[in-house]
Amino acid sequence: MGQTLTEKILDDHLVEGDLEPGEEIGIEIDQVLAQDTTGTMVWLQFEALELDEVQTELAAQYCDHQTYQFDFKNTDDHRFLRSAAGTYGAYFSRPGNGICHNVHKENFAAPGKTLLGSDSHTPTPGGLGQLAIGAGGLDISVAMGGGAYFVEMPEVVNVRLEGELPEWSSAKDVILEMLRRLSVKGGVGKVFEYTGPGVETLSVPERTTITNMGTELGATSSIFPTDEKTEDYLARQGREDEYVELSPDEDAEYADELVIDLSEIEPLVAKPSMPDNVVPVREVAGESVEQVMVGSCTNGGYEDILPAAKMLKGREIDMKTEMIVAPGSKQASEILARQGWTAEMMAAGVNFSEATCGACIGIGHVPSSDSVSVRTFNRNFEGRSGIEDDSVFLSSPEVAAAAAIKGELVDPRDLAEELGDLEAPGFELPEKYDGSKTDIIEPDEAVDDELVKGPNIGSAPIGEPLEADIRGEVLLKMEDNITTDHIIPATSDILKYRSNIEKLSEFTLSRVDDTFAQRALDSPGGVLVAGENYGQGSSREHAAMCPQYLGIEAVLAQSFARIHKANLFNFGIVPLSIDEETYEQIDQGDDVEIVTDVAEAVAAGETEFTIRVNDDWEATAELNASERERGILEAGGKLRLTKEQYADES
Ligand code: F3S
Repeated sequence: MGQTLTEKILDDHLVEGDLEPGEEIGIEIDQVLAQDTTGTMVWLQFEALELDEVQTELAAQYCDHQTYQFDFKNTDDHRFLRSAAGTYGAYFSRPGNGICHNVHKENFAAPGKTLLGSDSHTPTPGGLGQLAIGAGGLDISVAMGGGAYFVEMPEVVNVRLEGELPEWSSAKDVILEMLRRLSVKGGVGKVFEYTGPGVETLSVPERTTITNMGTELGATSSIFPTDEKTEDYLARQGREDEYVELSPDEDAEYADELVIDLSEIEPLVAKPSMPDNVVPVREVAGESVEQVMVGSCTNGGYEDILPAAKMLKGREIDMKTEMIVAPGSKQASEILARQGWTAEMMAAGVNFSEATCGACIGIGHVPSSDSVSVRTFNRNFEGRSGIEDDSVFLSSPEVAAAAAIKGELVDPRDLAEELGDLEAPGFELPEKYDGSKTDIIEPDEAVDDELVKGPNIGSAPIGEPLEADIRGEVLLKMEDNITTDHIIPATSDILKYRSNIEKLSEFTLSRVDDTFAQRALDSPGGVLVAGENYGQGSSREHAAMCPQYLGIEAVLAQSFARIHKANLFNFGIVPLSIDEETYEQIDQGDDVEIVTDVAEAVAAGETEFTIRVNDDWEATAELNASERERGILEAGGKLRLTKEQYADES
């Protein structure tokens, strides 16, 4: 039987296990990336492992989430990251050089290689035929030390693209259509592999918009085959020698298949406040818009901003609407500026941001209260923009620019008809990506050779081995789809403590209940209860590290998001699945006891655990964990376990 492209790349990198869906496999990692909010812990954990240098082919540290410097803590973090990259042999991308996914795509992403990144949108370079997976920072530290990365072998789903996108429809609408059909849970445990005649109609930047937002489907990764378009993109970046031809076998068998006819895709939006709340833009036309933002790792490329620039040329944005362009990389900013497009947009009333994540995580450009913001980003979770009652619509750059011109949501096709002189902008790549590369410091030009820590930088906490008894109060009962933003908000006032776990943990779940952290400290050994898809969103390991610090020993949820579940194991918190009936019956404040010697049961490979609630009634909870994950729980987390393993080896 032939292999899918995903299976081929995994097979090339397999160090443990078989490629059977659902089985745990260990793979060798070629490249790693870290961003600034997760990166400090990546390097503090690498420091705790006491290794001398990075073992992967390539490691890259980016500074993108926190480039608007509110105080010294962020600059100290960036200086620490530069010193860590220099000390251990990684590339360092300076603050303002751009978002990790964009800069990685431009400089390092390579077909056929594996990439592990401490950011949930790491799968972005799947559009170039790279198998890229998001993971927690500790997994990155271990991979940098030469350790394998372990993941459940995903099901590979064939997304067959047919036809060609019509005018005014874009790659963003393709992935919004996927979200409309499959929901934010539709990709859990899956890799989406794009095939079919529609593939060759899409350029690499269009493909990476689609693979970037595969994360919103909950997918492990998304990938395109390589072809002339891939070779052409690499050549324009001056990296043609990195091209490798990759495709699935003709007789490859997929777990599932869905067909998307590109010619039927129309301009869509995701309404507030979930990326799968997708409708045609014409259904919400007329909604007044106060803010428009074009940028992010999804649509922050030169090619993404150019359509908006063309639409705005010679026009003015509506008086009640502000529009901000935040390019995904300095390369994109520089090419737009050289070609005069920045001036055209400024003349139309657009303001520019440096190349940063910024507003995507509520850092700057927070919408005013009770107003609509239309953004080309990938997430519109409630409160993510920096204000609780936000109303964020996700769209393509074309729909965003149309909203800025009209001052309200409008199907750009209708706007074109109304204005008479608005032409469909199309999608084009620059002749050459000749933007500056001076903002990347290569390992051999490193400016530091030892770690430089400011006063807000602590060290990585190391957990305690799993205990026999788990009994505690349900400190919080939560709904479905609790995100990592709920667990540790990513706003600037909080994220500045990312290298200081004691302080950061004070904000744990504060968006759900601001008394939680204090109650957890007062009542150690507590448990959390949640509905479906607990921990969806980012790869932020602080969302497991801080609950661990507060003494949380178990999370009982109807289901878990993949990366967060791995993070719970990594930080020694037992993730137990419960059914809906049990979820409904348990209340906050209940006393929950796991009726067994937990350490022994985990070691013995038990999957069913009896829980007793209020010494009154019992239910069953399941532990779905591999032998390796059980070992991590027993040891008290992956850092302690890996440290012990390295100590044994030396
Ligand atoms: Fe940054 Fe937002 Fe992407 S935080 S990495 S631009 S999802």
